[in-house]
Amino acid sequence: MTHNTLGWSSRWMFVLAATGSAVGLGNIWRFPYVTGENGGGAFVVVYLICVLLVGLPVMIGEILLGRWGGGSPVNAIKKVASKEGLSKKWRFLGLMGVAAGFLILSFYSVIAGWSLAYTKMFLVDYSNFESVEKNQEIFSVLTESAGLMLFWHTFFMLITGIVVAKGIKDGLENAVKYLMPILFLMLALLVLYASVAGNFSSAILYLFKPNFEAFETKSLLAALGQAFFSLSLGMGSIMAYGAYLSPKTPILSNGLIIALADTVVALMAGLAIFPIVFAHGMEPSQGPGLVFVSLAAGFSNMPFGQVFGFFFFLLLSIAAWTSSISLLEPAVGWIKERNKWSRPKSCIVAGGIAWIFGIGSILSFNHGQDVKILGLNFFEFCEFLSTSVMLPLGGLLIAILVGWKLNKARVFKQLDLSVEGKTTNLIFSSMRFLAPIGVFCILLESCGLLKYLTTKFGF
Ligand code: PHE
Repeated sequence: MTHNTLGWSSRWMFVLAATGSAVGLGNIWRFPYVTGENGGGAFVVVYLICVLLVGLPVMIGEILLGRWGGGSPVNAIKKVASKEGLSKKWRFLGLMGVAAGFLILSFYSVIAGWSLAYTKMFLVDYSNFESVEKNQEIFSVLTESAGLMLFWHTFFMLITGIVVAKGIKDGLENAVKYLMPILFLMLALLVLYASVAGNFSSAILYLFKPNFEAFETKSLLAALGQAFFSLSLGMGSIMAYGAYLSPKTPILSNGLIIALADTVVALMAGLAIFPIVFAHGMEPSQGPGLVFVSLAAGFSNMPFGQVFGFFFFLLLSIAAWTSSISLLEPAVGWIKERNKWSRPKSCIVAGGIAWIFGIGSILSFNHGQDVKILGLNFFEFCEFLSTSVMLPLGGLLIAILVGWKLNKARVFKQLDLSVEGKTTNLIFSSMRFLAPIGVFCILLESCGLLKYLTTKFGF
């Protein structure tokens, strides 16, 4: 039995689900604050280059591996490697993906929990949001209360687990079919609202006028990590969804649509958030609290703020939900195949592990603030390790596997392409050269090694 027989009901369901995976906290919560921390426009330019030159080839590689291997990422990679006579060790790439998935899901669910808490507060306790100071206080009360955060984290993990436990057709397709169109509509409305009620011109300048003086080399890694995180690459999410694709679906155009939709949503989120942040003279560079403190305060000072604030946080929660499903799926698939367990049982175990790790992230905002690993608290450490190390490393290995290790003619056949065409060669060349070299250099740079080597060899 292959996965394909129980696969997507249509190609568009795959595109919708993969876009649902890509569009999430990464676009709406993380992209604006990482852009803010890295100086604005110049970061956006580098981010777009990373998406095009590195993200897109890796996305295509992941879909290809998933469809070709037809199983959870660990087994898909194992199968393709064995068909092609490669080392069995390649399955560690899949295992690293499963580990990255646990790490990301653990803190992801905590932040999604904040979003749920804000949705509820905008609906029922709106009078509390009168001033910026009060907003700051609300955010502090939430993050200082481990119990409250645990409640929302648990709730979010449960709704994620339920969808994954139901499986592809009943769970995932049903969820994305309704949630994704709602999400796009709400975001478009919010941009419209921000353009009328906020400081739209400053936001456009901030996002699209590159100021390379504010750009530091460390921002390169931030942009690359953000591209991987936002496109759901490097850990097998897209690969897991690719496993349910029919062999007839085109891979290139699917990858392109997903990457494009994700990028458009990130930019739209910027255009919904920054006008409101700037209209109230607030700082764009204040980190993970940006949408929860500044934006929430902004809404509360604007006409119809309650309605739009409520919709914003609902949107954020839905986007997070369709992404967290894809964070859990690779691990559930692997546990299920390995132990021959049922889907629900595998879900409880995988979701349970991520839930326990999440408690570490919860505590790093309050009782465990001072516990540091490499100078970072537990939440920051999980975020850094997964986003800036494991995802780029996973992407690098995927590009090497597909670009160099697999038989070129068979890869092209999988992509349904002739070896000649110009576009194909372009994409394949970036899979072979640009993507691995780019990721490798940025990883070296972030360890300070590139600087050492360039001074040592006098470049
Ligand atoms: N892409 C998701 C987001 O932007 C997060 C994610 C990362 C999902 C990795 C799956 C895999 O929120």
